[in-house]
Amino acid sequence: MAALKYAGMDDTDSEDELPPGWEERSTKDGWVYYANHEEMKTQWEHPKTGKKKRCAGDLPYGWEQETDDKGQIFYVDHINKRKTYFDPRQAFTIEDVQVKPKRYDGNTAALDVLQGHDLSDKVIIITGGNSGIGFETARSFALHGAHVILACRNKARSSKAVNRILEEWHKARVEAMTLDLASLRSVREFAEAFKAKKLPLHILVCNAAVCTQPWRLTEDGLESTFQICHLGHFYLVQLLQNVLRRSAPARVVVLSSESHRFTDLVDSCGKVDLSLLSPPQKEYWSMLAYNRAKLCNILFSNELHRRLSPHGVTSNAVHPGNMMYTSIHRSWWLMTFLFNLARPFTKSMLDSILVARARWLLSRETVNGRAQGLRTA
Ligand SMILES: NC(=O)c1ccc[n+]([C@@H]2O[C@H](COP(=O)([O-])OP(=O)(O)OC[C@H]3O[C@@H](n4cnc5c(N)ncnc54)[C@H](OP(=O)(O)O)[C@@H]3O)[C@@H](O)[C@H]2O)c1
Repeated sequence: MAALKYAGMDDTDSEDELPPGWEERSTKDGWVYYANHEEMKTQWEHPKTGKKKRCAGDLPYGWEQETDDKGQIFYVDHINKRKTYFDPRQAFTIEDVQVKPKRYDGNTAALDVLQGHDLSDKVIIITGGNSGIGFETARSFALHGAHVILACRNKARSSKAVNRILEEWHKARVEAMTLDLASLRSVREFAEAFKAKKLPLHILVCNAAVCTQPWRLTEDGLESTFQICHLGHFYLVQLLQNVLRRSAPARVVVLSSESHRFTDLVDSCGKVDLSLLSPPQKEYWSMLAYNRAKLCNILFSNELHRRLSPHGVTSNAVHPGNMMYTSIHRSWWLMTFLFNLARPFTKSMLDSILVARARWLLSRETVNGRAQGLRTA
């Protein structure tokens, strides 16, 4: 049932069943009509629901449409050597309703956006997919059939995340691989290990980040916020660029932030100053470092899009929303305080798991209740 729901097919209402004496047929161009044999009349609307329908897609492999002497259309199944007046595509009819474009807002969750999409032919990497927005994204992709790779620095946390997704749907194709963006060596090793799998790569989500961390140099001698949020991702995309191009249409999504607006990369004379990106300890302010790294995310994504979109690889930077409750605030008590203040008014990644669990429990209750009802009936 869960799989049907994620595919947008959980509405199994039998209201479509025809009353006695009625038959469903279709025209040459796929419109469904209804014939009443008792009253010898036909109509386009379903006699019970009043809805119009048409057949979706082509005839199944091996089938052909033909017309008999009376002008009546029939269908030949060449493989099984049989004929029928019933259009085999009627198993997949769609209603003739004006489909309004879906509207999304600040409360829309990834699962809502993906509802009805089949991603089973997609391979997706998400950096920092073990928690927060990355985890929700990974979970939503995996529940829609994609092969999802969580690229994470901590094995225990990433295995836990994989298990949480598998608990929800045991057939999910989800795995964890080690990637520490604070180490260019680790980024290289990750890229090599991924390439060794000989998989395509359709979506690369550059999501991992740290915010308001104390000053620290990485093993590569760079300030860590800058390296984790931007440079590590920049390097990763360079290393996987050929795989992305070979897998086109493919896309890169870079998680940036609205806070990029509160900074720039110029010195007091207005000239671009790249030394601001990895400042020494005495010139370091953690929030500013985060904002600058997020500005780099956007500049990088725009330039990447300019260079790769002619080859079928697009890139977009996205601001996921303000102060969404994740663990991004954990390095500084003031941020934790502010995130907790804002929590009742913003989207929370923790809630969505709790809500999913509550829904799951409720559906179990309902199923148990129905089963109980059936047993006592
Ligand atoms: N939450 C918001 O309100 C908000 C607003 C604007 C933008 N964003 C952006 O959204 C993205 C996701 O953030 P979030 O809120 O979901 O935060 P989060 O819950 O803290 O997730 C960050 C993820 O990055 C991983 N990570 C940190 N350092 C890493 C490293 N060296 N190598 C590999 N992975 C590393 C973390 O792994 P560990 O669990 O091992 O630490 C974690 O999985 C970030 O790019 C952030 O800037 C968030």
